[in-house]
Amino acid sequence: MASRLTGCKVLLGVCGGIAAYKAADLAGKLAGAGATVQTILTASACELITPKTFEALTGQPVYTSLWTGSEDFRIGHIRLADWARIIVVAPATANLLAKLAGGLCDDLLSTTLCAAWQKPLVLVPAMNTNMWSNPAVQRNVKAVEQMGATLVGPKTGRLACGTEGLGRMAEPAEILQAVETVLA
Ligand SMILES: Cc1cc2nc3c(=O)[nH]c(=O)nc-3n(C[C@H](O)[C@H](O)[C@H](O)COP(=O)(O)O)c2cc1C
Repeated sequence: MASRLTGCKVLLGVCGGIAAYKAADLAGKLAGAGATVQTILTASACELITPKTFEALTGQPVYTSLWTGSEDFRIGHIRLADWARIIVVAPATANLLAKLAGGLCDDLLSTTLCAAWQKPLVLVPAMNTNMWSNPAVQRNVKAVEQMGATLVGPKTGRLACGTEGLGRMAEPAEILQAVETVLA
């Protein structure tokens, strides 16, 4: 049976969390399942992983700024929002959740998400346990769920900060499954 991802236009947003390296695996798996994957990296994500990694794994353009990279006359964030069948943000930082919940638009990813609010959205949060349990973060999580986003994780396990707890990014296979479910 053909995957729902075959020919599906997936916009992948990558934030500046240490789990950004796992987003590269996710991008490869989405492309391997037949999806056309375009990627937006935030400025913080670019500190942790390079756009070239995603370009190579997806064979598609990678965008990092509101102000550069348009290859046609349409404004980039509107074009990307219109293009996407589904949007996946992995890892989603505490910062991104706050911006999404508050409607902030100060970079390409947050502005595209604002313009694409009617599109299916899968968020994969990952952060330190204390950040995740922060009441403001939990308030933002509830707000984005109420706006219709599907959250995958976070999971309990070993975290980059050296502790064990809730905050680990879900594995790419589980995210792929969640994307298929949302598409259904
Ligand atoms: C090495 C490093 C790892 C980080 N990991 C995370 C993380 O896993 N989750 C998180 O929410 N923030 C993390 N941060 C903080 C974010 O990078 C920071 O809040 C940033 O403003 C996020 O920007 P963005 O949401 O535009 O990507 C990390 C910062 C550093 C320096």
